[in-house]
Amino acid sequence: MNPTPPITRSGLPNAVVVGAGGLGMAIARRMAQQHRVILADIDETLALRQAAALVDEGGEALAVHCDVTDAASIARLAGIVDENGGFHALVHVAGLSIAAGDFGAILKVNLRGPALVAASLLPLASPGSCAVLISSMAAHLSQPDALARQILSEPTRPDLTDLLAEHLGPDGATPAAAYALSKSGLLMLARHKAAEWGQRGARIVSLSPGMIATPMGRGAYAESPNKARMFARSPLQREGAMHEIADAVEFLISPRAAFISGTDLLVDGGLSAALTSP
Ligand SMILES: NC(=O)c1ccc[n+]([C@@H]2O[C@H](COP(=O)([O-])OP(=O)(O)OC[C@H]3O[C@@H](n4cnc5c(N)ncnc54)[C@H](O)[C@@H]3O)[C@@H](O)[C@H]2O)c1
Repeated sequence: MNPTPPITRSGLPNAVVVGAGGLGMAIARRMAQQHRVILADIDETLALRQAAALVDEGGEALAVHCDVTDAASIARLAGIVDENGGFHALVHVAGLSIAAGDFGAILKVNLRGPALVAASLLPLASPGSCAVLISSMAAHLSQPDALARQILSEPTRPDLTDLLAEHLGPDGATPAAAYALSKSGLLMLARHKAAEWGQRGARIVSLSPGMIATPMGRGAYAESPNKARMFARSPLQREGAMHEIADAVEFLISPRAAFISGTDLLVDGGLSAALTSP
């Protein structure tokens, strides 16, 4: 009888990275040092190009087309992960900025999507697996009210965006509100799902970047006077670098973080603290 085949050709465990944009690629590059990367994005051409770049750099990677707003597309991603032996790390990075979508689209991509992805991949997790949901400092600067929190606590429900839009009313249901709610919802998701992930010996956390020098961040920074004001109050007087987020992800998925689950890691250079302190 043949021996059980290794998880991958090289024996590397898999890291599923959803989102092949600026921050996604910085994280995927870091994951590629110790994993085979399964790189998923709605933009298939981008995913293929970025996976090819990882291979050119000496890594192992495969590209998957996945639209996180489409349950069938997520099921296909889960099927590919299953065929390839499950995963050690899942990092959900894909997201729309305030400038990139309307109220409904932002909630669907930034919250409902990662909730569906995490639920679909959970059965493929094994002891030591870890999911990292990329949230935002925005989640630390807003406090959804009780009804909003109740709605956000079921992020996969099909009427999520309708219920929140109805609750906020036409003036409140803005892209900025959707962004803050979606990112708060990710913190709640990690908290609420930790027990389920724990049953498989796996962990789930969120990570909230502050102002990071990414192409997406630069765009948002250029357009927002608020962001310029925030930058002036930043304790470290600078934006974060993408590799500093990759450092934090690398820690969170490592055995060094084996007792960290159901919580958030804020990586913002102290900006939220400065903005919310008297
Ligand atoms: N840049 C910052 O300063 C900053 C700060 C806090 C949080 N973040 C978060 O970081 C994450 C990503 O940042 P980035 O710089 O990589 O952004 P990016 O715009 O470069 O990349 C986002 C990627 O998501 C993909 N995507 C969009 N909709 C999708 C869908 N339906 N299904 C699958 N993929 C989809 C896009 O094709 C794109 O490749 C976002 O969640 C963002 O909210 C960024």
